[in-house]
Amino acid sequence: MANVGIFVGSSSGVTQAAAEQLEALFEEAELINMEEDYDDLEQFDAFDILLIGSSTWGQGDPQRDWVDPLYALENEAPDFSAKKVAFFGAGDQDTHGEEFISALGKMKDIFSRLGADTEYGYWPAEGYTYKYSRAEKDGRFCGLAIDDVNQAELTEERINRWAEQLKYEMGL
Ligand SMILES: Cc1cc2nc3c(=O)[nH]c(=O)nc-3n(C[C@H](O)[C@H](O)[C@H](O)COP(=O)(O)O)c2cc1C
Repeated sequence: MANVGIFVGSSSGVTQAAAEQLEALFEEAELINMEEDYDDLEQFDAFDILLIGSSTWGQGDPQRDWVDPLYALENEAPDFSAKKVAFFGAGDQDTHGEEFISALGKMKDIFSRLGADTEYGYWPAEGYTYKYSRAEKDGRFCGLAIDDVNQAELTEERINRWAEQLKYEMGL
């Protein structure tokens, strides 16, 4: 049984590419694309560690393939208290800096309410310029912020560093 489940929603492939890089960096990781591979909440059961990926759309909303799963998670409220959860996702700090990667903040709130330990993979907001992010508190994002629109040259290294950080924090 794979231990790390990487669940990702991505419309133009940026967060999907990040998920694929992460899959290669973790042993026994399985990638679940929310449009192609996801059927129901039971798929979360197979993993102790969840890496939750989503780009941000609309007014700071999670990517569309997450809408139904998040609704089900909130309504059925499975017990995730044994799970370690970290978040990552793409956004655009320049054109959409009023809600930069806000989806990660919304998703973190939902998984926290299920009892999951979501204190992993926090990432410094230094080096990003934006007006507001629901994902940021006290100078840290609640997950990895990727911006391929404005800072594509930093993406690969950010993902590598974040994976190292997670392995350290989670004792992997
Ligand atoms: C209509 C529209 C709305 C968007 N809204 C946001 C937003 O609220 N916050 C943000 O950080 N990025 C926003 N973005 C930028 C996307 O998240 C960005 O292009 C991202 O790279 C898409 O990643 P994906 O290919 O994984 O879906 C928006 C983009 C579009 C076209």
